[in-house]
Amino acid sequence: MKMFEKADRLRKLPPYLFKEIDRKKAEAIAQGVDIIDLGVGDPDLPTPPHIIEALKRAVEDPAHHRYPSYSGMNDFKEAVAQWYRKRFGVELDPHSEVVSLIGSKEGIAHFPLAFINPGDVALVPTPAYPVYHIATLFAGGESFFMPLLGENNFLPDLDMIPDEIAAKAKIMFINYPNNPTSAVADIEFFSRVVRFAMDREIVVCHDAAYTELAFDGYRPPSFLEIEGAKDVGLEFHSLSKTYNMTGWRIGFAVGNRQAIEGLGAIKSNIDSGVFQAVQMAGVESLRGDQSCVREMVEVYTKRRDLMVKGLNDAGFQVKPPKATFYLWVKVPEGYTSGQLASRVLEEAGLVVTPGNGFGEPGEGYFRIALTQTRERLAEAIRRLKRIAF
Ligand SMILES: Cc1ncc(COP(=O)(O)O)c(C=O)c1O
Repeated sequence: MKMFEKADRLRKLPPYLFKEIDRKKAEAIAQGVDIIDLGVGDPDLPTPPHIIEALKRAVEDPAHHRYPSYSGMNDFKEAVAQWYRKRFGVELDPHSEVVSLIGSKEGIAHFPLAFINPGDVALVPTPAYPVYHIATLFAGGESFFMPLLGENNFLPDLDMIPDEIAAKAKIMFINYPNNPTSAVADIEFFSRVVRFAMDREIVVCHDAAYTELAFDGYRPPSFLEIEGAKDVGLEFHSLSKTYNMTGWRIGFAVGNRQAIEGLGAIKSNIDSGVFQAVQMAGVESLRGDQSCVREMVEVYTKRRDLMVKGLNDAGFQVKPPKATFYLWVKVPEGYTSGQLASRVLEEAGLVVTPGNGFGEPGEGYFRIALTQTRERLAEAIRRLKRIAF
């Protein structure tokens, strides 16, 4: 029937490669298998109590029951600017260089609508968080994929981007600390990106969702620390992973004012901003006691160490990541990512994410999320050791 024929943008969606694993997982759960889900990047730890209290206070205030402003409350935007200064030494004008988001996914998904015309190109890493490519598609654009390979420390090789592609490109997406590879980028890489973007007049969208989830004293930099970065780009940030607030839906974008203005123009026509009580909780998260972040990092450090050792003992190859709560593990020889994921689900009740689901160069890897207790992770290792790969 014509009326329910899907629009081209939906028909062009890439195949959902986790379908098979999802089906097998649902089947196993229905059979009563004790599944350990290492697939989802959704923190199991609760939101810290002082943030919950701030929400409770704010929700009582009728001033917060009305439509919020689409770009965010001044209090929230000022808290973001203050946090950026303290954490990264980056100065931001809260009024023109900050916009609140209903989670960073919302901002990332809307951004191409502001700058991509049909036929324009976005430079998109692969493997990657799928939203960069899909948002480009929805805007009528085309993705030019930049492979993230182990031999390049999972950084894109900018020299491999053909001149004619760079000339057509409007946007480049990057994401460090990276999901799914857990790779990190240094100032030198970001500087190269700034020079590249300046020369080719490309807007850089840096997805910085995992900067606070870093180990052993490592402090991932902001892209905006680079001189000139604000002339070419913006950074997407999230409270989801830093404060265990994935369900609250709050994030922000900061950086180049024209980029922020473009995103704001799209948002003002689509959504009506973040519930103000949630923004007040966001203010508390950014301005309040940060010991909760240190405690969370300690929890993930212990989980990472347990899991990295356990996996290596079980015959896998994985290095301890410097950041993120993901492990990007090579599949044993003779397996594809999908075969490995199926086997560990069928024989050990473990859900892991096959790397090719994030893009073709992810083939040969699988991703583990450290979003389970140490007891469950230890149990996962015990089960893995029983399988002869
Ligand atoms: C790389 C990356 N960016 C952005 C997001 C979106 O986070 P949120 O919309 O909760 O801020 C995620 C969530 O998993 C992610 O992994």
